[in-house]
Order: sequence, then C-alpha cells, then structure tokens
Amino acid sequence: MESETFASYSHHLQTVAIATIFFAICLLFPKLTYQTSLAKLPLFGNWESGEKQRQLYLNHAKKIYSAGYEKFKDSAYRVATNDGEDNVVIAPRFLPELRKLPDSVLSFPKAIDKVMEVKYTKILTDAPMIVHSVKADLTPALARLNSVVYDEVVESLSEEIPACDDWTPVNMYMALANMVAKISGRVFVGPELCRDKDYLESAIQYTMDVIEVQRSVKLIRPWLRPILAPRLPAVKRLRKREQMAEDLLTPIIASRLEAERNDPTYKKPDDMLSWFMNRSADYGGHSNALLAKFQLGLIFAAIHTTTLTGTNILYTLASQPEYAEPLREEIRAVMAENGGVITTRALQQMVKLDSYMKEVVRFYPLGVTSFTRKVLRGFTLSNGQYIPPGVTIETPSHAVYSDPVNYSETAHVFDGFRFSKIREGGKAADHARNQFVTTNEQNLMFGYGRHACPGRFFAANEIKMLVAKMLLDFDIKNEGDSQERYPNIEMGRQTSVDARKNLLLKRVQV
Ligand code: HEM
Ligand SMILES: *[C@@H]1O[C@H](CO)[C@@H](O)[C@H](O)[C@H]1NC(C)=O
Ligand SMILES: *[C@@H]1O[C@H](CO)[C@@H](O)[C@H](O)[C@H]1NC(C)=O
Repeated sequence: MESETFASYSHHLQTVAIATIFFAICLLFPKLTYQTSLAKLPLFGNWESGEKQRQLYLNHAKKIYSAGYEKFKDSAYRVATNDGEDNVVIAPRFLPELRKLPDSVLSFPKAIDKVMEVKYTKILTDAPMIVHSVKADLTPALARLNSVVYDEVVESLSEEIPACDDWTPVNMYMALANMVAKISGRVFVGPELCRDKDYLESAIQYTMDVIEVQRSVKLIRPWLRPILAPRLPAVKRLRKREQMAEDLLTPIIASRLEAERNDPTYKKPDDMLSWFMNRSADYGGHSNALLAKFQLGLIFAAIHTTTLTGTNILYTLASQPEYAEPLREEIRAVMAENGGVITTRALQQMVKLDSYMKEVVRFYPLGVTSFTRKVLRGFTLSNGQYIPPGVTIETPSHAVYSDPVNYSETAHVFDGFRFSKIREGGKAADHARNQFVTTNEQNLMFGYGRHACPGRFFAANEIKMLVAKMLLDFDIKNEGDSQERYPNIEMGRQTSVDARKNLLLKRVQV
C-alpha cells in the first residue's frame, strides 16, 4: 500500500516534472529562435546600457530615428527603446508590402495592449463594429451633417471663448477640448446628451483617467500588478467613470427604443449611438453596457487627438502672424460663395487652410513613429530579412517628413502653402496625394493601411471649421508677444503640445 502510494506519487512527480520541462521548452524554444532571428537584424542606437540608454532614448528619440532612417533606407533594424525591449524599425519603402499582410500577421490591438496596460485601463482596442460604423455610417453622413457640425462649432465657440474685446489670455487646449467634446458629442450621442454637464465632463476626463491609470500601473512591479492595481484610486475612479457612462446612456437608449416601438412615423436620430443601435443585430446584440463601452472607445480615439491637433495648429498660427490674412481671405471668399456658412463644398474649396494644417502636422508632428504593429507570425521582407513573431514594428514617420527626396530641398523650412501650391493647377492625383486626410507612405499622421484612422474625414472637417472660425473672429498671438512658437514636449517617441500655455486672443473688429 505504502509503496504503491509512493509509486503513484513519484509517478505523479515525474509527470509534473516532464510537463514542466515540456512547457518550459515550448516557451523557451520560440524565445530562442526569436532571439536569434532578432539578433540577425542590425542593432542601432545602443550606445549606452541600462538606465543611460533609457534616458538617451527618452530625450533624443527624434534624433535616433532620423539617424537610423539615413543609415537603413533599404532594410529593417532594431532600436533599443525605453521599455527595455528592442523595436524593429521598418523603412517606408517596405510599407506597400506590409499593408498586404493580414491581421493574423500584424496586429494593431496587440501592439497597444502592453503600452496602454489594457488589462487595467480596459480601453476598447479591437472593435470592428466601431470601425465599420465610422466608415459606413459616419463618413458618408458628413455631407448632410456638416451644417449641424458647423452650428455646433459656432455655438460652442461663443460659449468657450470669452469676449476678448482686448487681448485676453485663453488656455487654448482646455477651450478646444470643451469645444471638441460638444461638437463630437453632437455627432456621437445626439442633441439630448451633447450639452449635458456630466456627459461633457466624462468625454474630456475619460481619456485623462485612462492615462492616469496607465501611468500609475506602470509604477508597480509587473508581478504585483494583479494584486495591487485594482486597488489604485485611479483605477477605481476609471471603473466609476465607465458606470457613469452607462447610467447616462441608459434612459436615452430606452426612450429611443420606446419611440421606435410606439410611433410608426418615428425617424431615427442621425448620430453614432443610433447607428450603433441599428447595427446591433448584425453583431449579436448590444447591451447598454456595451453601447456605453463603444461610446467611450470613440471618445478615447477622437477627443484628445482632435484637440491636440487643433492646439498644434493654433500654436503655430500664433507665432506666424503673416499667415492670418491670406488664410482669412480664402475663408471669407469661399464662405461668400457658399451662403455665408461652411458647407461640405466650402471645406473642399479651402485648399490653403488644408495645406496649412497639413504643413503643421509635417513640421511639428505629434509623434516620432507610426504604423505600430505587433508581429503575430514571422514573415520575410522582399530584401530577405526575417521579422520574427513577438516583436513590435514601427515606421519612422518624423524622419519621412524631413526627407528632401519627398519634400524637396525645402523640407527643412515651414511652408504653409506647400501643398496648396502643388494642388493648384495640378492633376487629380496631385489633389488626392496632398490633402490633410491623405494616408500613404509619406503621410502617416493617421496611420497606414487597413487600420488607418477611419475618423480622419470627420476630424479634418471639425478642425478646419474650428480653425477657420477662430481665424475669422480673433487675432491670435503668444503671451509676452514672443514670436517663438511654444515648443512641443518630447518624451521618447511621443510628442505633445504644451497644454498649460495660454494664447492671447483679441476679437477682430468688423
Ligand atoms: C486629428 C484627430 C485624429 C488623429 C490624429 C487620429 C489618429 C489615429 C491613428 C494614428 C490611428 C491608428 C492608425 C494606424 O495605426 O494605422 C487611429 C485609429 C483610429 N481612429 Fe483616429 N485619429 C483622429 C481622430 C479620430 C476620430 C474623430 C475618430 C472617430 C470618429 C477616430 C477613430 C479611430 C478609430 C475607430 C481607430 C481604430 C481603427 C482600426 O482599428 O482599424 N479617430 N487614429
Ligand atoms: C438601419 O439598418 C438598415 C439595415 O442595415 C439600413 O437599411 C438602414 O438604413 C439603417 N437605418 C439607419 C437610420 O441607420
Ligand atoms: C518619396 O520618396 C520615395 C522614395 O524614397 C518615392 O518613391 C516617392 O515617390 C516620393 N514621394 C513624393 C510625394 O515625392
């Protein structure tokens, strides 16, 4: 009996041991082949080690990627980043072959998982329904919605910007965030909620709460996170915020469904909430909680990106007063031709403004790299280099924007009308390739390929209307009369405007 127990015990031990070893080999083996194939790619920028290297990357990422771009135009290489892992940088000439790879090879959501601590921020990273609805419902609706959007621009501007009879300091980032939340809210949830105090607070604060959770989770050692992270005040606040979004939407969803049941003449509202509800059946049903989650996903993708881009443009305008008049002339002339408002046609006719916005993004890009993807299955580039599974790849977009090959010998100067000059008198292809919304190998602000930003048409319209209205109504300058543009803040591959700055505004007398 004893020996039998011992035998089975030892047998059991053996199985455990073998299983463990087998498991370890399975884990290790891909790791080994991964490391050897990764090691075959040239390493660039590893001048220091440990903390020193991390600091170097955090402070000089732009320079590191530019130098790498010059050195490796025709190949992929590794770069040591600040998170202790090497990323693989892919030269833009390979982008056309990468865009053909399916999601099972290159994953956009998986690339975000770790960076954004998705386990705790719970942001929606993979929502095909949202992408589909933005493409198939929102973008085609813009032609009929633009007049509503413009009304919201005018109204929110009158609410968020003071009288400014004399030079008045305005925190541009916060003013724009409030305006963008209202304008986007009109299109995302409709008129019932878009001016609701709690909705607006959520629309602005949600992304801030997410960033705060991401930051505080990263401060905890990885193995302690499952225990400690859920107890963080920031995490609890974020869970409350999610619940609040559901509570806000629930009565609106209910009253819309009821109206639909009872009123045969009921017309569904023209907004994303309505389109999401309408697509519910195709996607296996949407609970109120899920509909709220979709709205938060939209808010995360749309509000701060649009606000940052708008601030970036206005900071540039404030330091370049010579652009105000030529831009105003175009805006006034185009509006006069279109009944005094900014219609879809008017937006298309504002080529100088479109060019200026695009040049700001080229010259002061918010971000050093684009097209970040996690490699799920290894693949081989046309030059024979093997990219192993597990790595994160990226493209050096900032370096692309400064390349004289693409932007002539004037690449290093700011030329607000660079793109409108190419478009004026140009062929159809010149028009298509030189717009704010263009995405291709040289234009990467909205990403690239299958997962390029589907919201960029809406964002471009909204920003164009906001900047046009700001220009018409106000003279804009820096505090202290400085002509120097407020510098953007750089940290690793991230770049942001300095949201704490004020601009001075003075109403244009008519
Ligand atoms: C100026 C404002 C915006 C910027 C700079 C921006 C930028 C981006 C970028 C860089 C990506 C990743 C693309 C890639 O890696 O290939 C993206 C994805 C996305 N954006 Fe935007 N975005 C903006 C506004 C918006 C707006 C207003 C919406 C919604 C109406 C939106 C919805 C999305 C969605 C749903 C995705 C995910 C696409 C997918 O997974 O296939 N974005 N955006
Ligand atoms: C709702 O969906 C149906 C079928 O997909 C479509 O024909 C209809 O236009 C949609 N209605 C609205 C208001 O989006
Ligand atoms: C940018 O440069 C690449 C070569 O690096 C070239 O193929 C492409 O046509 C250029 N694009 C523009 C807009 O000049």
